[in-house]
Amino acid sequence: MGDSWPVRETDGPMAEDVVKVGLLGCGNVGAALVRLIAEHGDTIEARTGVRLEVARVAVRNLARERDVPLPASAFTHDGTEVATASDVDVVVEVIGGIEPARELIVEALKAGKPVVTANKELLANVGKELFETAEGAGVDLLFEASVAGGIPLLRPLRESLAGDRIRRVMGIVNGTTNYILTRMAESGASFHDALAEAQTLGFAERDPTADVEGFDAAAKVAIIASIAFGARVVAGDVYREGISELTDSDIVSAQELGYVVKLLAVAEEGPSGIAVRVHPTMVPRTHPLASVRESFNAVFIEADAAGELMLYGRGAGGGPTASAVLGDLIDASKNLASGARGATIGVLARKPIVPIDEVESQFYLQLEVADRPGVLAAIAEQFGTHAVSIRSMQQMGIGDDARLVFVTHLAREADLRATVHALRDVDAVHRVGSVLRVLGDES
Ligand SMILES: NC(=O)c1ccc[n+]([C@@H]2O[C@H](COP(=O)([O-])OP(=O)(O)OC[C@H]3O[C@@H](n4cnc5c(N)ncnc54)[C@H](OP(=O)(O)O)[C@@H]3O)[C@@H](O)[C@H]2O)c1
Repeated sequence: MGDSWPVRETDGPMAEDVVKVGLLGCGNVGAALVRLIAEHGDTIEARTGVRLEVARVAVRNLARERDVPLPASAFTHDGTEVATASDVDVVVEVIGGIEPARELIVEALKAGKPVVTANKELLANVGKELFETAEGAGVDLLFEASVAGGIPLLRPLRESLAGDRIRRVMGIVNGTTNYILTRMAESGASFHDALAEAQTLGFAERDPTADVEGFDAAAKVAIIASIAFGARVVAGDVYREGISELTDSDIVSAQELGYVVKLLAVAEEGPSGIAVRVHPTMVPRTHPLASVRESFNAVFIEADAAGELMLYGRGAGGGPTASAVLGDLIDASKNLASGARGATIGVLARKPIVPIDEVESQFYLQLEVADRPGVLAAIAEQFGTHAVSIRSMQQMGIGDDARLVFVTHLAREADLRATVHALRDVDAVHRVGSVLRVLGDES
């Protein structure tokens, strides 16, 4: 077997071909990138012909100890110096946040340097300016690591599926919330206990808002939608609900009905435009996304010709994210050497964003009701009046504990909301509990 593989001859490192990297930020991702380049530099060169060298690094605190094989003289706190230095060929931005990352990337692009970034917040909010600057300067702006960390996702969407029509992309793109939901489902923990555990283990920030309220996933799905549908989609276009309102009882009911609750980021394109949303969703236990546990991420793609694909892996962490940054860095370096442009985002069309009221889903509703004759008819009437058709109904508990659990056929969000509103006025309905979207066989 060994003999059948061709062996590539290389001439070894060629000093004149070294690509000098200017690194903005040397935290979790930046430091992992420096170590990866140091450890795998020879292999990268043998495989790709690109010799990378981290020449300059900008950080906030020069006094901080860093576990990276670089001399102290490589570090500065002057980001502009790194972004524009004449001895820097490619710039990597792993500072995070909007400023100064935005300004430094613009400076680097205007200086004619390709930029690689992992910054979803920046791209999902001010991506337009950055892509236009890259376009104007004729250099690459690559950002594979900004969504789903180490999972190759944007390149497959943009390149491998370039000739296909992508209909829908559904992702578990936030590891913190997936960890919390896994603990709730598998050990019966409450949301708060599962969050506390995630914080202790370092899976959740001390301020978990961006994760648990779905802001992080919203930024990522905006980038996914932009790439998948070639349209400009920003974080503000994404309808968003987090997981902090989920109760133990929702998780148990979902399990009893054969579902697992996941925070799904969904981007789909239909005749009336692009719908982008993040919300807890009941996923059938048999769906591949239901098996994505703990802090793993996965993205499920539905395309006309390719059919269904799923990409799975570590969506965060220094190593996985640095691996994605490195892939972009090698691409940008190869393009630089050949004088070509990589597949940057290209020209994005303006396509309508479907308002959440118009989006159709199947829904799960839990009602606490009086257990007496005629109640069902009164409830069913409200569903019918608002054009929401019931697919299944189950009674759980009896007497004062009676709960009715409904799953609907496909219904518009606005109609479902009107139904819930009307149900609250039905005498026999003590409480309308959770309402969750269901990933059903109709959607
Ligand atoms: N960590 C992950 O798992 C992950 C996954 C996907 C994407 N990302 C993205 O990757 C980026 C970096 O994340 P990270 O976890 O590596 O962040 P981090 O650990 O907080 O590192 C940030 C780095 O930026 C430096 N920095 C901050 N302000 C600066 C300034 N004004 N000028 C120069 N340097 C500055 C910091 O310097 P000091 O070291 O001196 O403080 C630090 O080295 C973010 O956009 C993040 O969203 C991260």
